[in-house]
Amino acid sequence: MTDDKQKSADEAGWRDAQASRLERDFKAARAEHRHEHAAAFEAWRTEHNRSQSGKEADMTVKTLNDLFIETLKDIYYVEKKLVKTLPKMADKASSDELKEAIRDHLAETETHVQRLEQVFQMLDQKASAKTCEALEGLIREAEETMEEIDDEQTLDAAIISSAQSVEHYEIARYGTLACWAAEIGNSEVAELLEQTLDEEKAADEKLSTIAEDAVNQRAAA
Ligand SMILES: [Fe+2]
Repeated sequence: MTDDKQKSADEAGWRDAQASRLERDFKAARAEHRHEHAAAFEAWRTEHNRSQSGKEADMTVKTLNDLFIETLKDIYYVEKKLVKTLPKMADKASSDELKEAIRDHLAETETHVQRLEQVFQMLDQKASAKTCEALEGLIREAEETMEEIDDEQTLDAAIISSAQSVEHYEIARYGTLACWAAEIGNSEVAELLEQTLDEEKAADEKLSTIAEDAVNQRAAA
């Protein structure tokens, strides 16, 4: 073999070795990622099952579909609870604009409850709610803050802030659920969830506008 031929054979061998090393590294990284993902899911499942034992439905979450149903139960609890909570918030608000926005969202929330019931039905599942500790915490915090405030404008600001915290929780939940529904291959369910997601986003934007208007009014006063 000539020197040139030997050189190009060496280079080809080196490239092959590099390629197989890269492939090996890639496979190892992928396996590690899968392993981490599985470990995180397993930890969540253990914790979830532990917290649920002796409480409500004794369901074991094994698949994405199970997780999807459990999360539906969580948001179903949220929507039903909000149907009771929003009128109280509207009563406490002073600005007519804010009262109206909350009451409009109450009507939407009633639709959200019905839409979720439709989703449960489409999945051949009984509509059931699972206590959402996150929402309970947000409501508790809101009530504690409101108790301390006498000034009407400040109270309105607190109501908007609390309502937006709840909206953001709902946006996160519906965003995830719509994504999972698509992943599971149920585009009709995904569409329904996206419809609610859009309404939650619009409600959140409306609250931001009311908050900005109030800030401008205070600045002009
Ligand atoms: Fe909602």
